[in-house]
Amino acid sequence: MVRWKVYKFKLLVASVTTLLISACSSNNEATAVKVDKSTTKTIVNSILPSAHAATYEQISITAEGFKLGKPASNEEIAGWHIEVGHGHNLPPGEGTAADGEEMFETLCASCHGSFGEGVGRNPVLAGGEDTLTDRQKPERTVGSYWPYASTLLDYTHRAMPFNSAQSLSWDDTWSISAYVLYLNDIIEDEDFVFNAESYHDITMPNENGFIIKDKEADTSNTRCMKDCKDPKSITIKTALLGYGSGAEDVVEETAVVEGHELGQKIYDATCRLCHGTGLAGAPKVEDRVTWEHRLQEGINKVYKHAIDGYSGQYGVMPPKGGNLELTDEEVKAAVDFMIKDVK
Ligand code: HEC
Ligand code: HEC
Repeated sequence: MVRWKVYKFKLLVASVTTLLISACSSNNEATAVKVDKSTTKTIVNSILPSAHAATYEQISITAEGFKLGKPASNEEIAGWHIEVGHGHNLPPGEGTAADGEEMFETLCASCHGSFGEGVGRNPVLAGGEDTLTDRQKPERTVGSYWPYASTLLDYTHRAMPFNSAQSLSWDDTWSISAYVLYLNDIIEDEDFVFNAESYHDITMPNENGFIIKDKEADTSNTRCMKDCKDPKSITIKTALLGYGSGAEDVVEETAVVEGHELGQKIYDATCRLCHGTGLAGAPKVEDRVTWEHRLQEGINKVYKHAIDGYSGQYGVMPPKGGNLELTDEEVKAAVDFMIKDVK
């Protein structure tokens, strides 16, 4: 259950985004809201909790508040207002799985497979029933995972085929979606006419698999306030599940980096800008002679210069290269890395 929350969260973000877009629609009954920082907050707050309930706040944001741009016209908004909701904004048109089969074969199968089995890294669209509780390998497909068929209509019409998004008519979208549901045994009759009326005759298997957990952090751990572990001693273990490269591998990653590895990380992030190129008069790392010379008075002076900063003959070395969040040890590691090839 816990792992799906990430997906649930993604879905929530997606629906909040569509709600935000639709919340910005102006229509005749819209309440005009003059936008300042606090009303923006109110708008966002009033949208977030209602994301799942899918109630639509009709709010029009006037351009006046920012003194920028002009209010969007209804035609302009219509171009963006294309989301399909579960039970609202269902699109016009209709189609059957039988109509969709050929289109799916021509437009979708090259990436998703003739049976929705997925080609290469492209997502699997069918199958995976009863695998969601398999902690090692849940197979999340339209059939096994998606709670509402409206998402399929919306996604297909909005984003597919991947290489020519928004090219499908609504009839095509209903037909192809019916076919995807047919591949998932959710629509069983290939002549079932799928449209806004028959939409509610089908039920997605995982419709009740999503739970709403309001106002709770997406983690079960409590924040440590004292005697906490040294962050460097914490090991991160990531299990990359889902599609994409190495989906089946359990990747172990460790946050403990030391020595030159740590030095290189810090050098790359903070010091390379100047010391990689000689910017602002900084001695280049590869300039061994310079470094040999600079080290003549001992490493401690060099460390001190790197940590506290100094103004030299060639320019200004800012304290810790400008990143004051670095510890002295980290700066020293970066210096060690920079001079590792110097005698
Ligand atoms: C050129 C390859 C390609 C073609 C052709 C294509 N898709 Fe996709 N499809 C993708 C990719 C890649 C993704 C994943 C996109 C992402 O996650 O951002 C995707 C995602 C999807 C998803 C969401 C799957 C999920 O579980 O997240 C659906 C549904 C889908 N495609 C349906 C279709 C349909 C229907 C067609 C034909 C009209 C089609 N696709 C044609 C490449 C393709
Ligand atoms: C904004 C550019 C800039 C950045 C970023 C920067 N440096 Fe420097 N650094 C300089 C310049 C310029 C000098 C040479 C000053 C002089 O000697 O005139 C210098 C000199 C040094 C020296 C030589 C000190 C000595 O005693 O000769 C060390 C060591 C050093 N930097 C380390 C670092 C490290 C480590 C970082 C990253 C954490 C870093 N620098 C980031 C500009 C930068």
